[in-house]
Amino acid sequence: MQNLWNLEKYNEVSSTNDVARERSLHTKENLVVVADIQYLGRGRRGNKWVSQRGNLFFSQLLATETINSNLTFVASLSLAETIKNISKIKNISLKWPNDVLIDMKKVAGILIEQADNGMIIIGIGVNLIAHPNEQETSYPSTDLSSNDINISREKLLSEYLSYFDKNYELCLKNFDIIRKKWLTFACGLNQKVKVKYKDTIKEGIFKGIDEQGLLLLQQDKDTIKISVAEMFF
Ligand code: BTN
Repeated sequence: MQNLWNLEKYNEVSSTNDVARERSLHTKENLVVVADIQYLGRGRRGNKWVSQRGNLFFSQLLATETINSNLTFVASLSLAETIKNISKIKNISLKWPNDVLIDMKKVAGILIEQADNGMIIIGIGVNLIAHPNEQETSYPSTDLSSNDINISREKLLSEYLSYFDKNYELCLKNFDIIRKKWLTFACGLNQKVKVKYKDTIKEGIFKGIDEQGLLLLQQDKDTIKISVAEMFF
């Protein structure tokens, strides 16, 4: 079954995730909320999302039985496939769990939340024409246009949604297909990485993700599974 997305466009909002949450009080239909500007854009781990005019900010409101962690991989994989398809660039990668990188610099981020009625909100920010400098974030960023990828917000969104719909269908059948496709974009695979986890830093070899999307970190002979953390190289 193909997802059908009703599109709602706004000029200025606090956060498209906030609008999607508010809309969940009134609809059970799949919805995409897109805004020109956000004045309180949120990132993961309580960070703000620097929302520069001209970039793409949207949230998908989705009624689903699928678990959030699977959707993280469906969304990030779909974004990577979209950008790869429109640009043919090879240096696009995914940093666990869901950062989209070009040349190891962040070009898009994903924040998944849940509305009170159980619907899932997938909030996505893509740097199209501008990116924050390193003083504004704790990591290097880039944007599509700096990488000679010029595409309108509308086209990028519609391309992304068609990849999302296909990958979502695959995920409903078997998450392992998504897991394997996601791993083809994974950065740091089989390399030594650092993982910041519950105020401690663990080092090990990044061995991929398991059937639930947990990070597999090999330390000597043991491989531990990590659910919520940040990865460094
Ligand atoms: C991250 O990488 O920290 C996640 C960033 C998510 C940003 C998007 S922009 C659209 C939606 N609205 C928000 O306030 N956040 C997400």
